[in-house]
Amino acid sequence: MIILGIETSCDETALAVLRINNRRCQVLSSNISSQTAIHKKWGGVVPELAARRHTQVIIPLLKKTLAEAKTRLEKIDALAVTVGPGLITSLQVGVETAKTVAWSLSKPLIPVNHISGHIISSFLTSGQWRGTRNKSTFPVVALVVSGGHTELYLIKNLGQQKLLGRTLDDATGEAFDKVAKMLKLPYPGGPQVAKLAACGNPTKFNFPRPMINSNNLNFSFAGLKTAVLYTLKKLPGTKNEELVANICASFQQAAIDVLVKKTIKAATTNKAKTILLGGGVSANKLLRSEFKKASANLPRVKLLISPLEFTGDNAVMIAAAGYIEAKKSGLKVFKNSWSKINADANWELW
Ligand code: KG4
Ligand code: ZN
Repeated sequence: MIILGIETSCDETALAVLRINNRRCQVLSSNISSQTAIHKKWGGVVPELAARRHTQVIIPLLKKTLAEAKTRLEKIDALAVTVGPGLITSLQVGVETAKTVAWSLSKPLIPVNHISGHIISSFLTSGQWRGTRNKSTFPVVALVVSGGHTELYLIKNLGQQKLLGRTLDDATGEAFDKVAKMLKLPYPGGPQVAKLAACGNPTKFNFPRPMINSNNLNFSFAGLKTAVLYTLKKLPGTKNEELVANICASFQQAAIDVLVKKTIKAATTNKAKTILLGGGVSANKLLRSEFKKASANLPRVKLLISPLEFTGDNAVMIAAAGYIEAKKSGLKVFKNSWSKINADANWELW
């Protein structure tokens, strides 16, 4: 099956064409048009500007993506589009583009949840499926960590997930971004904090690990972020490089300690055979290495971390998640579905 994936939930316009079946997941083309340069001067994503940019680039990017895949819209078997969660005006650009193509060429249109895209990304490696055909993979405990989400899921089978816990306030990526802003680091902040943390001492500041021992699987990062703010207020004068690096390293360690401990707890209590890690923050080097260390102590548990090329928002994961939906419900269900599909900023996966 050939699927065109479309992703516009935030500040990346992404399109991909996949040739996909149960065995293979071949990326024929994939393009991401990033808006970092536009939002940089505002220190965060400005929804109106994001939507405007999506509108400007989506058609040229569609033409480029089809040309690189050496195909035409007429030859596509189905479209998969991110319907939510995300910024409503950004989502609408992708959804309305997909609906127009689906209507005009009578193609099935598969609505995809952005979070399920991040989950599916961990089952891909350089465009191949990994672990999906293997009975010893499930049940899976999945941690999705991004700019808008921090959630733990129990996945009994692909496409069947149950929420185990989530953040009660800030998402992990959001906390990274806000700490970066406090330190006057350039946007996007998460990777900057991670970069400086690599040269810092993680034990220099003893920041709180909120809810690390709570008897549920929820998270909270607002208190950690505020602790960084109060520490900064107490420190007089200009902050030298070493101090900033130590703050970044200590903050990063605190956030990661909580993510690792709660995910391991979720995996143990649910007798998971696999721990899965996806979303923008899963690009973080320390997070990846701490998960490798912690899961090595659970000999019967495999670790699947999203390949770096798929951690951020992309359309490969959306097309792949669309395929899983089509497999579950049958492609026929999505014939003429364009008339019923609308962007849904708050679409919850559970
Ligand atoms: O999944 P994603 O690309 O978009 C959302 O769905 O939100 O995630 C973006 C988030 C941002 O908050 C960004 O700062 C964070 O992921 N991020 C990182 C790193 N790379 C990206 N956070 C910490 N360390 C990183 N290396
Ligand atoms: Zn995302």
